Amino acid sequence: MQEERAKPQKMVLDCDTGVDDTLAILYAALHPDVELLAVGSVWGNVDIATATRNCLHTVHMAGRADVPVARGAAGPLIGTPPVYAYHVHGDDGQGNAGTGRGVGAAIAGTAAEQMIRLARAHPGEVEIVAVGPLTNVALALGLCPELPELVHGVTIMGGAALAPGNVTEVAEANIWCDPEAAAAVFNAPWRLTMVGLDVTMRTTLDDGHRARLAAGGTIGQYTSRILDHYLDYFAAASFGERRSCLHDALAVAVAARTLVPSSAPTVNAFVVLGDGPTRGQTVCDLRGMYMGYPHQDGAHCRVVLETDPHFADEIVALIAAAGDSAVPLNKEGRT
Ligand code: BDR
Ligand code: CA
Repeated sequence: MQEERAKPQKMVLDCDTGVDDTLAILYAALHPDVELLAVGSVWGNVDIATATRNCLHTVHMAGRADVPVARGAAGPLIGTPPVYAYHVHGDDGQGNAGTGRGVGAAIAGTAAEQMIRLARAHPGEVEIVAVGPLTNVALALGLCPELPELVHGVTIMGGAALAPGNVTEVAEANIWCDPEAAAAVFNAPWRLTMVGLDVTMRTTLDDGHRARLAAGGTIGQYTSRILDHYLDYFAAASFGERRSCLHDALAVAVAARTLVPSSAPTVNAFVVLGDGPTRGQTVCDLRGMYMGYPHQDGAHCRVVLETDPHFADEIVALIAAAGDSAVPLNKEGRT
């Protein structure tokens, strides 16, 4: 008898669409184990207008104009000014290699409202996957305090349990951008999966992967092009050679169970607030590591500590095989 295949994971993906978010959206839009219900944009890597444009361009490019995109928050929960990362993702959030052309339109309503609507429509089935600052998720919690009972869970790309930070010594960018929002998300009583720098710094793409993408259709070629600037950034900032993290796509794959962590204890975790040097740090109680992580009362945060680094090959193969962009090419032949 044939084994029954698990149903695709229903997902609402929330992104501050820079380069790695683009790959995450492509993975979610193309992978048969994901039922991508909707995408929400959020400020972060880039301003909200650019993030929304990039979310729309990516779903349309993937031939998934059926996936609604809702515009989200333009800055942190407590109203402090947003701080962007154009130096990492390029002025267009696409490694300065996008065309910048507008494609499609966001639906009416906010990304937070969209999350709530879809959670209510599919009780217990939707995984919220948030790979930017957690502002929209915190807003959704504020609007709908029963959201934790309505969703399957929340998976984030964010935080660092044992790894160093990437904005400060201890804080990862998505948490550092909006610690108050992150604290609300960590404190809510849902199944939270944290896919942080512990694993995302160890799964990288290099020029060999870019060449494989470039050998595919125009979707792969586009992806290869936007990664060029990103590899330069990581060469200077982190690795001393041209390779870049995949970051956000790992969270999508963990949420879809297409990437099964080899170590992911469920522990108590919290976000450091205040104005001190550890603002935005994620503190995870890993004291049980020498005894196989015994049960902790009240713990609901699954902290991913190890995954298979070969995931890079898998996502590259998926995008390279995706064929041609459904967005017509411009006169330079670019999507
Ligand atoms: C995270 O910050 C952003 O720059 C990336 O898109 C990723 O979500 C990594 O710290
Ligand atoms: Ca991101």
